Amino acid sequence: MAVSTDLNPSSVADNGIWVFGYGSLIWKPPISYEDKVVGYVKNYVRRFWQHSTDHRGTPEAPGRVVTLVPHAEWKTMDDYHDHKDDDVCWGVAFKIPGTDVETTRAYLDHREKNGYTVHTVDVYRPNEEEPAVRNALVYIGTTDNEAFVGGAPVDDIAQQIYESYGPSGWNAEYLLNLAHALREIAPESRDDHVFELEHKVKAIIERNEQADSKLEKI
Ligand code: SIN
Repeated sequence: MAVSTDLNPSSVADNGIWVFGYGSLIWKPPISYEDKVVGYVKNYVRRFWQHSTDHRGTPEAPGRVVTLVPHAEWKTMDDYHDHKDDDVCWGVAFKIPGTDVETTRAYLDHREKNGYTVHTVDVYRPNEEEPAVRNALVYIGTTDNEAFVGGAPVDDIAQQIYESYGPSGWNAEYLLNLAHALREIAPESRDDHVFELEHKVKAIIERNEQADSKLEKI
């Protein structure tokens, strides 16, 4: 269920808001933030199961970007990758100062308009019982939004990501940036879905480079 976007105006103006990023927001953060917390959310599974027709693909040839699927819902779905009950989803929470909330919300609502709605999550740091940030806003493409496409064989997703381009650039760049950023923020991060796709897309890139260099020699 998406939360109301009407946050308590006086409290927001005084205290600002927190936004949790688990996809492009990790490596391409909101324009202005005054603090950040590297951490994770529980009970969500990150998957390249959301179509992108406005950033990393087009309406005719959509790319794929990540969304979060509630773990309980994910368990009812077919998937090629596992996610244990206590696996977590790493990302970064950004603190937006009160003075910038309105412009940042407008910017993010526009950036995440392809099927994402705003929800709230608690963000944890390792080895801490209590959340470091409570009720951070998060943009999720829920399984009932029209850009949600769900799973597919991992080779098919890799090929689609390799082939897709949109106004924000190459879909493969989105995936490779995400995998790189996850290793940077949390070397212990286990995310077989992202890292296997990274491996497969890099292999396709390499194969195509080799084929191109053979052609050049002819
Ligand atoms: C996010 O980064 O938190 C949302 C999904 C995306 O834009 O990649």
